[in-house]
Amino acid sequence: MLSLKNLWVEYGDKVVLERISLDITEGSFVSIIGPSGAGKSSLLRVILGQERPTRGSITLDGTPLPAECGPDRGVVFQRYSVFPHLTVIGNTLLGLEFSASPFAARLFGSQRRAAVGEAEAMLESVGLADSRHLYPAQMSGGMQQRLAIAQALIKRPRILLLDEPFGALDPGIRADMHTLITQLWREHGLTIIMVTHDIKEAFSLGTRVLTLDKRRHDPHAPHRYGAGVVYDLALTRKAAMIAEQASITIDANHNNGHD
Ligand SMILES: Nc1ncnc2c1ncn2[C@@H]1O[C@H](COP(=O)(O)OP(=O)(O)O)[C@@H](O)[C@H]1O
Ligand SMILES: [Mg+2]
Repeated sequence: MLSLKNLWVEYGDKVVLERISLDITEGSFVSIIGPSGAGKSSLLRVILGQERPTRGSITLDGTPLPAECGPDRGVVFQRYSVFPHLTVIGNTLLGLEFSASPFAARLFGSQRRAAVGEAEAMLESVGLADSRHLYPAQMSGGMQQRLAIAQALIKRPRILLLDEPFGALDPGIRADMHTLITQLWREHGLTIIMVTHDIKEAFSLGTRVLTLDKRRHDPHAPHRYGAGVVYDLALTRKAAMIAEQASITIDANHNNGHD
């Protein structure tokens, strides 16, 4: 679905990423690990369309990725991507309001009622149905990340980009978030690309694990070479299991088509 070809990212004379070529299959869950400063966030920004690569191409279903962030790609950062002056429902609606009318950013009448219904359903699926009138400051870090996920998913993106989304959370809460993200990935048929510091998390959630690191160093010019993909592991057994589960679900849905 998503194809990166010979991608380079440079800031001035500093090479951050070099020769990144990747094909990402629809429905996969790609975990990205690598040392701090390797360019993991830069890679996500390029896929999001927030930044242009210095060289190389990115295509989505064979067509070049549009030069700006589109509704087909959603993103969740490590923290504080929600608006503090808006309630949970307000934050969730904002995603829809921006995509429906980017200039007015306001929906009225029946359009608004439909949007509220959609936002409530999304809050239900991230476990925030009872918190819709709270403000972010009244919620835990885990709840705020649930809200950030709802805000990203309400636009129905095909690709969800996660930049260390659970890094700031306590271990117990993190485990709950792992369950939630796995569930949403399956329910919405998402393709997920997640950067994480936690190797265990990378392997337990991902169907594929990529490591970004420098393949070569110049001790006299540390900026000269960028990072590339040094390991690319497909967790095939797990991928097969998930595919099998998905086909069972699809069969079950076909059989119950008239219900
Ligand atoms: N807009 C920018 N301008 C200049 N340098 C940048 C910019 N964004 C990132 N960098 C540099 O690129 C390198 C990779 O950054 P980043 O992608 O954030 O790494 P990671 O997420 O792997 O920690 C870092 O050295 C960082 O300082
Ligand atoms: Mg980063």
